[in-house]
Amino acid sequence: MRVRLEGVVKRYGATAALAGVSLEIREGELFTLLGPSGCGKTTTLRILAGFTEPDEGEVFFDETPVRGVPPAERGVGIVFQNYALWPHMTVFDNVAYGLRLRKVAAPEVRRRVKEVLDQVGLAGMEDRTPGQLSGGQQQRVAVARALVLNPRLLLLDEPLSNLDAKVRARLRSEIRKLQQELRITTVYVTHDQEEAMVLSDRIAVMREGRVAQVGTPVELYERPADLFVADFVGTNNLVSGVVTRLQDGWAEVSTAAGVLRGRAAAALRPGQRAVLAVRPEALRVADGSCLAARPAGGAGGPAGGASRGGRHRGAGGGVGAGDPGAVPGFSGPLRGGGGGAHVAGGRAQPQGARAARTRPARHRELPT
Ligand SMILES: Nc1ncnc2c1ncn2[C@@H]1O[C@H](COP(=O)(O)OP(=O)(O)OP(=O)(O)O)[C@@H](O)[C@H]1O
Ligand SMILES: [Mg+2]
Repeated sequence: MRVRLEGVVKRYGATAALAGVSLEIREGELFTLLGPSGCGKTTTLRILAGFTEPDEGEVFFDETPVRGVPPAERGVGIVFQNYALWPHMTVFDNVAYGLRLRKVAAPEVRRRVKEVLDQVGLAGMEDRTPGQLSGGQQQRVAVARALVLNPRLLLLDEPLSNLDAKVRARLRSEIRKLQQELRITTVYVTHDQEEAMVLSDRIAVMREGRVAQVGTPVELYERPADLFVADFVGTNNLVSGVVTRLQDGWAEVSTAAGVLRGRAAAALRPGQRAVLAVRPEALRVADGSCLAARPAGGAGGPAGGASRGGRHRGAGGGVGAGDPGAVPGFSGPLRGGGGGAHVAGGRAQPQGARAARTRPARHRELPT
């Protein structure tokens, strides 16, 4: 099933939990809502599930608007962060609950429950209660309970956040595998960018009730639309400067580390303040003696310079309008350009927290 949100607004008093969200989730894909706490991820899931109705906008399952359709009739399976299992019921009864509520005949209940417990690797644990299971096993029961109803849409709200790192890594690949086997359209919520990158076909990065960018993990990593995405997805060095030249979608930016070149991801103009986002792996620290003969800080940096070479994964950085705060410690040319940098657009970030995440120490090693 395809899912479409069109201009969805949800207000709680003066707060707009969702301030106009439009998204299209494709048949069979694992689509992740990624963003910091309070950005509206759970609100979006609740609206898809039918627990909450939007104040404005519309949600479509395939081409059908679902406003007013009660949760039980939407064909949606949900896994909550805290699993919400019945503590006094056995694993079998927890999973069978929804089927019995729908008056499914007992032999069919037994067949279906056994089938999904096999799928999630819980065969043989039917008679235990949740208190006799590990966190990871409880999480599987919650997934089984959602799948047993053959949902058209599976919603998972931070399903792994209560688990330790090792179990989380294992379960996320199991969830991915199961999702690919069943090809069920899935919306996965997390604030963990690594989890999102590993699991997802596509990701919507959300910020303050809006969608900042939608793309595949690679697209978000290599072509962040703005500084928020550049900073939130993976690690980036943010280097501020002033745009000196624009040509063919590239921008040259004069920074404390010299003139750097990156792909422009925003409408920039010469003289404008901008921020270059550089992936750590796009930088290479070379032996200083090979640069001694070159003039420092040349426009664009020399081809084949310190950050250029086979280890580049396409765009390693970008430049957006704004100022993340001064990056101290630059004393020499930082070689960018080539395929290693691009210019991301976007609003200026507040100073402080963002700037603190830059990594000037890496650059101090560079020769003058
Ligand atoms: N029932 C409610 N009443 C009032 N405000 C609410 C309600 N539900 C959500 N909000 C507010 O709406 C905003 C979005 O909340 P939401 O739960 O969707 O965030 P989230 O992205 O899921 O965050 P988290 O990662 O912390 O779970 C927050 O500012 C939250 O305080
Ligand atoms: Mg939430």
